[in-house]
Amino acid sequence: MKILAIESSCDETACAIVGNGTKEIASEVASSADMHHITGGIVPEVAARKQVEYIVPVVDSTLHKASESLGINIKDIKEHIDAIAVTVGPGLAGSLIVGIEAAKSLALAWGRPIIAVNHLIGHIYANFLETDKETPGIRFPAAALVVSGGHTDIVLMKDHGNLEYLGGTIDDAAGEAFDKVARLLGLGMYLGGANLSRTASEYTGVELPEKLPRSLLHQNNYDFSFSGLKTAVKRLADKNMYPVPAIAKEFEESVVEVLTEKTLKAVENTKAKSVLLGGGVSANRKLRNDLINKVGEKFPDVVVHIPPFRLCTDNAVSIASAAYFNQNYKTFDNITPNPSMTIKD
Ligand code: KG4
Ligand code: ZN
Repeated sequence: MKILAIESSCDETACAIVGNGTKEIASEVASSADMHHITGGIVPEVAARKQVEYIVPVVDSTLHKASESLGINIKDIKEHIDAIAVTVGPGLAGSLIVGIEAAKSLALAWGRPIIAVNHLIGHIYANFLETDKETPGIRFPAAALVVSGGHTDIVLMKDHGNLEYLGGTIDDAAGEAFDKVARLLGLGMYLGGANLSRTASEYTGVELPEKLPRSLLHQNNYDFSFSGLKTAVKRLADKNMYPVPAIAKEFEESVVEVLTEKTLKAVENTKAKSVLLGGGVSANRKLRNDLINKVGEKFPDVVVHIPPFRLCTDNAVSIASAAYFNQNYKTFDNITPNPSMTIKD
C-alpha cells in the first residue's frame, strides 16, 4: 500500500510517498525558516503564506521523484497511490489548513480515501522507516520520548494505535527551552537549539562551578519542567563570570540528564522492550548518545531506536508511516485543523 502524505503544521512544507509504512519512495521538504530568522520568531501569517507558496511545487516535486524511483510515467503516478494522509494538528491553524486542503483536493481528484495524522505520533513513526542498514524490527511495548519545539511527552506504545500516556512537560517544551536559552545566550534568534548544542559540544574548558537545576528529576513521575531552568541560566549569564559555551554545556547536560533519566524510569516501570526517540530535539547528539549508552548499560536487552537526522525534524515520510500503521480514515468534513491537539488525542 502506497500513501502520499502532506505535512504543513509549522514552517516546513513537506510531501512524501511511502510504501507499506516503511519504504520511502519519494520525499520533499521546503522550509520558510529563513524568513523567521529575520524576524527572530515565527509570524504565523508569514508561515501560512509560505505554505501556500510552497505546497504545489513540493507535491509536484515529490510526484516527479516517485515516478523516477518507481520507473513509471508521471501521468500514471496516481494509479500507484492508495490513500492520502495529512497532519491535522497540533500546529499553526493557518499552516495546517494549507496541507489539509491540498490533501483533500488530491483525494477528491484521484478518488482516494484520506487519513488524518497527529503530528506528534508522526514523530514517533520516524523510527519505523527502513534505512540502508537495517529494518527497524521494533518490539512492543515501547517507551516513546517525543521531544519537539512545542511538546515533550513520554508514552508507552503497547501496539500500533494503543498508546498509554505516561507524562509530559508542565510548562516549556525541551526544544522551546533550547531555543529560548540560545536566544538568551546570543546563540541564535530563531531555532537556536542546534547551534547551542554545537557550541556546547565544542567547549573543552573547565566545568561551571555552579550547577543548574535538574527539574523534577527525583519525582516519581514522568513530568518535566524546563521554564525554571531558563531563569536559572539567565541568573548565571547575568553574573558575567562564565564563558557562554560553558553555560551552554551545563544547560544541555541538565536537559539531557532529565530526559534520559525519566526515560530509564519508564523502561524500568513498564518493562518496555524498546525505546523510541522522536521530534526535533532527537537530533541532539548528546541526547542520542546518552540514551543509547545509559539504556544499554542498565537494560542490555532493550533496543534504543533513533531516527536518522533528516527524519528528526518535520517531514512527511514519518506522517505517511503513521498513517499506514494507524489508518485513521476520515470523511472530508471531519478533516479540520486541530492546532491544540495533544499526543493523547
Ligand atoms: O519537531 P520539530 O522540527 O518541530 C516541532 O514540531 O516543534 O522540532 C524543532 C525543535 C526546535 O526547538 C529546535 O531548536 C530543536 O527541535 N532542535 C534541537 C536540535 N535540533 C533541533 N534541539 C537541541 N539540539 C539539537 N541538535
Ligand atoms: Zn515536529
